[in-house]
Amino acid sequence: MLKKFIIVIEDTGEEFTCTPERNVLKAMEQLGRKGIPVGCRGGGCGVCRVQVVGNGLYRTGKMSREQVPAEDEEKGICLACKLFPEGDLNLKVLGKWQNIFLNGTQLQK
Ligand code: FES
Repeated sequence: MLKKFIIVIEDTGEEFTCTPERNVLKAMEQLGRKGIPVGCRGGGCGVCRVQVVGNGLYRTGKMSREQVPAEDEEKGICLACKLFPEGDLNLKVLGKWQNIFLNGTQLQK
């Protein structure tokens, strides 16, 4: 049976499921959710930066070091388009465009 984990976006309270083979951003998009900003979908732009909160298990694909330096990665920061769950995850949105989604239409400078 296909494993599915529950992903919770703490900023919006949105919740969706994701399999270990699918990245979190793709799962979110396929289920019509919008809590995490979407950019290049390839681990390069940093728009989908999130932080895994708590002790959730996950693995990541290749991410731009410019967007996620090693010291950030140690704090659970990663790119949702390169994030694969291995357990239920709680996420905080950190991406550049989070303000559009969380606080209205103004970009944060
Ligand atoms: S969407 Fe560009 S890094 Fe994830």
